[in-house]
Amino acid sequence: MNAKHILVRLLLVTIFFVSPAAHLLKVSNGGTAQAASREPVRARHGMVASTSRIASQVGVDVMKRGGNAVDAAIAVALALAVTYPAAGNLGGGGFMMIRLRDGRTTAIDYREMAPAAAHRNVYLDERGELKKGEGGSLVGYRAAGVPGTVAGMELALKKYGSGRLNWAQLVEPARRLAAEGFPLSYGLARSLRANAKEFAPYAESTKVYQKAGGFYEEGEVWRQPELAATFARLQRSGPREFYEGRTAQLIAADMRAHDGLITLEDMKNYVAKERTPVRTTYRGFEVISMPPPSSGGAVLIEMLNILEGFDMRHMGASSSERYHVQTEAMRRAFADRAEYMGDSDFVSVPVAGLIDKSYAEGLRKGIKMERASTSAEVKAGKPAGYESEETTHFTVVDAEGNCVSNTYTLNDSYGSKVVSKGTGILMNDEMDDFASKPGTPNMYGLIQGERNAVAPGKRPLSAMTPTFVLRPDGTLWFAVGSPGGPTIINTVLQVIVNVVDFDMNIQQAIDAPRIHHQWLPDEIAYEPFGLSADTFRALEARGHRITQKPRYMGDAQGIMIEDKTGVRLGASDPRNFGEPVGY
Ligand code: DON
Repeated sequence: MNAKHILVRLLLVTIFFVSPAAHLLKVSNGGTAQAASREPVRARHGMVASTSRIASQVGVDVMKRGGNAVDAAIAVALALAVTYPAAGNLGGGGFMMIRLRDGRTTAIDYREMAPAAAHRNVYLDERGELKKGEGGSLVGYRAAGVPGTVAGMELALKKYGSGRLNWAQLVEPARRLAAEGFPLSYGLARSLRANAKEFAPYAESTKVYQKAGGFYEEGEVWRQPELAATFARLQRSGPREFYEGRTAQLIAADMRAHDGLITLEDMKNYVAKERTPVRTTYRGFEVISMPPPSSGGAVLIEMLNILEGFDMRHMGASSSERYHVQTEAMRRAFADRAEYMGDSDFVSVPVAGLIDKSYAEGLRKGIKMERASTSAEVKAGKPAGYESEETTHFTVVDAEGNCVSNTYTLNDSYGSKVVSKGTGILMNDEMDDFASKPGTPNMYGLIQGERNAVAPGKRPLSAMTPTFVLRPDGTLWFAVGSPGGPTIINTVLQVIVNVVDFDMNIQQAIDAPRIHHQWLPDEIAYEPFGLSADTFRALEARGHRITQKPRYMGDAQGIMIEDKTGVRLGASDPRNFGEPVGY
């Protein structure tokens, strides 16, 4: 801790203990542990908050060379494919929300598409049961959808890049990181080791993630030569190379050799699309988020609309009342998710109805302050458990005030665990986000309906929720997003409520403990040390079932624009190893 930090801490401690007004304010807001948060990282010009300090720095370097937030985001996304292989990717997909300084806002959908050979029952065996292991939707060659990341970056650059840096220049930092390597952090070394068993059936993956006869250790330089060669091809021949050139051929050949679904034709047919974001206001602040094929935006807005009718501020930030009403909002919105949501290119999704304020008003009337609802009465279904999670979000703000909020993923940690031979590219297992057997829970215990059944060319329903919140004058206030499967939507919800209702800064809002309810299983999940025993009992007394999650939820990355000064405040989640970098 340097002298400046010590001074700031002393000042805060003094204010807290000496100033009665500040103390009262804390108490009226419910008094929570987030008072111990570190200060957000401050910068005058540009900021990147990501889960990898190296990737954040790549984005800042791009902005210093004249690139805008979109240019920087592209370079960050490609760099994360090297430095954060569990979720950063070329072999997956995601969503990039862009808000330009002039107010134009758009959503780039580069979600994976189901291969042509996929069909409604592709993951069922002869008895109609879900296939497990190789051949199923979770691991191995048949679990992957056609990757969208490269096409998404291409579309973003073409339409919203500054024009001051070209594609090859934005690929270069990733290529260099893969070719020259970088020292492994403690977190990455641990994660590669922890996943060794999962990689074991796939020789190519073991070759990339382990050295001959052992594991890479913390501090050791890790190189990915085949991935570097893939980046070099992308630089030479442009982004279509991924879908039509040698890279596509290598992916298709490896798929063919292992009974995978993706063909060269599927690669050629992949398209990224621009979508119209969904919007609402929450207590006068505009919230803009991701539309289908994500459920994130609509579910988030439905919950915010429900909560707007409660005096959250008065309840207090870590009170049982707050958790109670939040849970009831989550229960209702996730029940709707299961019933109504899917790829709107294929099925009708009643987004307008779901995000309508009067619809929320009706739902709110069913919430009793003194008693939990049950998910059986809100809607019927089958409970199931939660599992591990890996995706990644980053946020970028440039000197002009353009902003990118990007969440992308391989789905599970290290996706399908399959590295495509000769490419260094780890493939996703996004097909598990479809309802492989509608009504039966997926890896996240999510029940999903017919609208999200598998079909060729369709995009699996997502929960990723890259989001912007504006000030009443229409300028950006903050942008945020997170990994965490279905917990993503609730993480973003709680960050927004923490800022708007409880006056937290972006770091405090991200640090504060979170809960999760997803309709089924009918239980509140909370983080280690996340609920006091009193709060726990008060919720139980209302009839809630509560379980502690073994792991923390999410890895939010946010940037807030400071009022009056315009300083960019970067915040990375303490739940993982991320770090914002600004200049
Ligand atoms: O798109 C989705 O909703 C999931 N595939 C996201 C997976 C995820 O966030 C895993 N995370 N930690």
